[in-house]
Formats: sequence, structure tokens, C-alpha cells
Amino acid sequence: MKKINIAIDGPSAAGKSTISKRLAKELNYVHLDTGAMYRCTALKVLQSNISLEDEKAICEMLKDTKIVITPDEKVFLDGVDVSKEIRTDEVSMVASNISQFENVREDLVHRQQEMAKDKGFIMDGRDIGTVVLKDAEVKIFLTASVEARALRRYNQNKNLGILDNDLEKIKKDIAQRDYQDTHREHSPLKQADDAVLVDSSDLSIDEVVETIMNIIKGKVSE
Ligand code: DC
Repeated sequence: MKKINIAIDGPSAAGKSTISKRLAKELNYVHLDTGAMYRCTALKVLQSNISLEDEKAICEMLKDTKIVITPDEKVFLDGVDVSKEIRTDEVSMVASNISQFENVREDLVHRQQEMAKDKGFIMDGRDIGTVVLKDAEVKIFLTASVEARALRRYNQNKNLGILDNDLEKIKKDIAQRDYQDTHREHSPLKQADDAVLVDSSDLSIDEVVETIMNIIKGKVSE
């Protein structure tokens, strides 16, 4: 099968990373979780004395920031493994806040485009099909209802033994991030004209993988 690029966009907690990882394994492709790069930026802002509103200072900080995502999906920020730290609720919200800045986006988008110069990438995020990989051969818009997404996150937290686990709060946070990500001025989350919509509200992980694999096979054999 000839190698192509695959863009997976969608709202928070729609399962983009889980599904992308599975697809990458089946296809022997490289998966790039672009959200992890916004999360690293957010974590470094929280660790520094930089104001969340100060776009210029955040961009200056980025000039001196190294983000590495390894093939086994570990995330290194300036040489430190932050794979766990970037997944907290606080970092999630700050990542959504700082992702509204045009110049922050420009820096991270440039890095993503450099990484995926060759074919054989599955990139997931919010603006992959519309901005980062506009010429991706397959574009998927993966979504699910707020209720389904919140319940999945709640069950994940439960399995991880996270004590501070409140379904209503998770639902509220997801709805707020959805609003921020779809209403920002620069590269808001939206389905690309040529993307295929996959609603996973009532589908298992296996069913979503199968649905998308069929879309990919259809595209490659065209
Ligand atoms: O996919 P995620 O939940 O890890 O992303 C965290 C935040 O980063 C999300 O709320 C919006 C932002 N983001 C973005 O603006 N563009 C991307 N390509 C990926 C993430």
C-alpha cells in the first residue's frame, strides 16, 4: 500500500490519540499527537513566571524550548519526561487558552510541518486537515457527544485511580474547551471541507478503527 498522510481532527476527549495510535500500529505509520506540543507549552508557561495573557513572552519562551515526542509516545520538554504532567486538568485548560495565540500556533505548526515532510504520518489535533497538512490524502473529523466523551474520561480516571473524579465537572470542562477551541479567531477547530465525519458516540474503539481503516483503504485504492 503506498504511504499517505492522515489528518485526524476533532474536539477534546473524542479518542483521537487512542485511535491514531492504533491506526499507526496497524499501518506502520508515525503518530504525532500535536496536542502534546500545546500541552508542553502550557506546562512551561505554568512553571515560569509568564502571564497566560502575554503572547509575546510565550513566543520568546518557545524560541528556547525543545519538545520531543519519541516513537513510543513519551513526551520530553527540554530533556525532561513530562508525559504524565501534561495530562492534568489544569494543563488541559491552559493548553486550550494559549492555543488561541496566532504566533504560538505559527511556531508549533511550523515544527509539525517540518516533522511530517515525508509521507506515512498520522497527525491528530484541531487544525491538521485545515492548516498543518492541508494536502493530507485522508482527513477524518472524529467526534462524539459531550456526554459520551465525559463518561469515557471519567472511566479512564477511575481506572487510573484518580480520586478527584467528578463526571459533572468533566462535562463542564469539556464543554468549555469545545467552546474555546471552536470560537478562537486563529485556526478554530472545524471540519475541513474534504474531511469525513466519524461520530464515535455509539462505537467501540475497534469499530472506530475499522471504520477509519475502510476509509483509508478506499482512498489508497482510488
Ligand atoms: O488534543 P489535546 O486535548 O491534547 O489538545 C490540548 C489543547 O491544545 C486543545 O484544547 C487545543 C489545543 N490544540 C490546538 O489548538 N491545535 C492542535 N493541533 C492540537 C491541540
